[in-house]
Amino acid sequence: MDEELSLQEIERDCLLCRECPLCEGRHNVVFGVGNEHAELMLVGEGPGEQEDLQGEPFVGPAGQLLDDMLELIDLRRDQIYICNIVKCRPPRNRDPLSQEQDACRHWLDAQIARVQPKVLVCLGRIAATALISEDFKITRQHGQWFPVNGIAMTAIYHPSALLRDPGKRPETFVDLRSIRAKARELTELYH
Ligand code: URA
Repeated sequence: MDEELSLQEIERDCLLCRECPLCEGRHNVVFGVGNEHAELMLVGEGPGEQEDLQGEPFVGPAGQLLDDMLELIDLRRDQIYICNIVKCRPPRNRDPLSQEQDACRHWLDAQIARVQPKVLVCLGRIAATALISEDFKITRQHGQWFPVNGIAMTAIYHPSALLRDPGKRPETFVDLRSIRAKARELTELYH
């Protein structure tokens, strides 16, 4: 992938993608949003119903909770970059298949290469297994830090999991504080 392409140019190409069967059922490709120079990147799993209809990541119920979580650590969406492992909605919100994740991966790699975040937060197991390690265990390893290709990466529970099981929220508060501390150490976000 040509690192000279701007994020907008990468998005323009991505919007035409037909490299896996997920393109058949989509209303919109959900490429990603935010600051092209963001030092903090969030990566979710894949678009849900609202995201598919609106073409933006995390605009449904999980997105509302995500905004609240960001507010807890004094961050706004325009300071960060948000995207997903797969850019088209899997039917009935099932987990994206590994072939779908593989087909879509070069778009994510291009986004990471372009944005060059210092800190990357995986939202949920699917993003963590794709980006941190294949055998990542979200229940045991959430909140831990892993250096991956020069980027400090961590994973937290997916906001949808926190909606289903509010009992996981206290652990996530701890993880969010750790993200704030790491961002304070490695980025200009709180300076
Ligand atoms: N869940 C995700 O993983 N990503 C979205 O964009 C919305 C819900």
